[in-house]
Amino acid sequence: MSEASHSAAWAPDSWRSCTVAQIPAYRNASDSNAVMDALARLPPLVTSWEIEALREQIALAQNGKAFILQGGDCAETFADCNSAAIVTKLKILLQMSVAIISGIKLPVVRVGRIAGQYAKPRSADTEVRNGVSLPSYRGDIINRNAYTAEDREPDPHLMLRAYERSALTLNFIRALIDGGFADLHHPENWDLDWVRHSPLADEYRRMVQTVADGLDFFESLTGKSIDQARRVDFYTAHEGLHLPYEQAQTRFLAHRQKWYDLTTHFPWIGARTSQPGSAHIEFFRGIANPVGIKLGVDMNPDWLRSILRSLNPANEPGRLTLIHRLGASRIRSLLPPLIETVQKAGVRVLWVCDPMHGNTETASNGMKTRRFDNILDELAGAFEVHRDCGTWLGGVHLELTGEHVTECTGGARGLTDADLHRDYRSQVDPRLNYEQAMEVAMRIAGHGRQRARR
Ligand code: PEP
Ligand code: CO
Repeated sequence: MSEASHSAAWAPDSWRSCTVAQIPAYRNASDSNAVMDALARLPPLVTSWEIEALREQIALAQNGKAFILQGGDCAETFADCNSAAIVTKLKILLQMSVAIISGIKLPVVRVGRIAGQYAKPRSADTEVRNGVSLPSYRGDIINRNAYTAEDREPDPHLMLRAYERSALTLNFIRALIDGGFADLHHPENWDLDWVRHSPLADEYRRMVQTVADGLDFFESLTGKSIDQARRVDFYTAHEGLHLPYEQAQTRFLAHRQKWYDLTTHFPWIGARTSQPGSAHIEFFRGIANPVGIKLGVDMNPDWLRSILRSLNPANEPGRLTLIHRLGASRIRSLLPPLIETVQKAGVRVLWVCDPMHGNTETASNGMKTRRFDNILDELAGAFEVHRDCGTWLGGVHLELTGEHVTECTGGARGLTDADLHRDYRSQVDPRLNYEQAMEVAMRIAGHGRQRARR
């Protein structure tokens, strides 16, 4: 389908007549239709009020008045839907946000890659092991990771299992936040063991103290308590890759006269599915959620202009977030022309840096990894380029975990290729571990401090 035909009527399933990539077909269509009907009858995971509140926050970030911290697993797994894993992910994002606030001195909006990050694009449709070729694993919402033909067959019932896990995850996060777990007055709630042992512990404590002192100072000066700091907002995001699932939970809300994808607040389109005329662009153009779009090394001005026209023709505030993931070695040359394209088009976007996906490499032992120094360098490059172009870098998008995994090399403990074997758990991309994530947050705070001084 051409871009022109995108101006035709939109419907939740109009993506089906476009070029579909990265969505495997189900063998039994009546089975998958029955699952989609069931999903369509179940209550939504998020509400339009929350979605609109996030859109306002993104609009603020577009104007330099907030910063978006988006992070979580590359791929959530059903097995990791347990209380410890969820609490740890919430804690790391809260701790990072405090570190960032201490330097950026602006509200930080926390967005998890959580409660639905179950579908993965793959570069190859099949995998070969010991001469046996099977379909690639595409995330727990599509098929199973075990290496048998049966496990790798796409199973529509997994959409229901993913919906349930997402609901359980969200339910727990909402309860923790409502119960005061995220109260910025009590950051000690989120301390984890590492704070006692880490080389970064003192710096983190100083940052927490700065934020606590700021709250104290304001509250004693005004005689009021900052209740907003007691209940921070937390939003969910996932790659809106598996369109049958997204479609099933997309509803027309009469009170707003708009369609919303109610599986998540903030879906994004990955770098592999954003071609003009693609099924994903078609689906996303019709939903009212704020949407993200990854910009990879192949992105060019024509393609970007076409995205801007399709996804935000009315130039609405808060609607579009551009997440560049260009790699440390190329960000300084590839980002300026993309920024210029957006400036010339005169449209509002939020610029976010994903310093992970352009820096994936194969370690000497064949494992997939990312070097911490490259991640920091891409981040520094993003702050530099946006400063030089007069644009505002309003957020970061990270793959991270609150655990002590060994997936990315470098960082305060100097992990090497030889350490990767020790605790490599990700089924897809390597994530920052707890300390590496905190170090990134501290760097962001440092960039923010520099920016504020100018
Ligand atoms: C991801 O965010 O996990 C991902 C696959 O990213 P990208 O589309 O940027 O490659
Ligand atoms: Co990834």
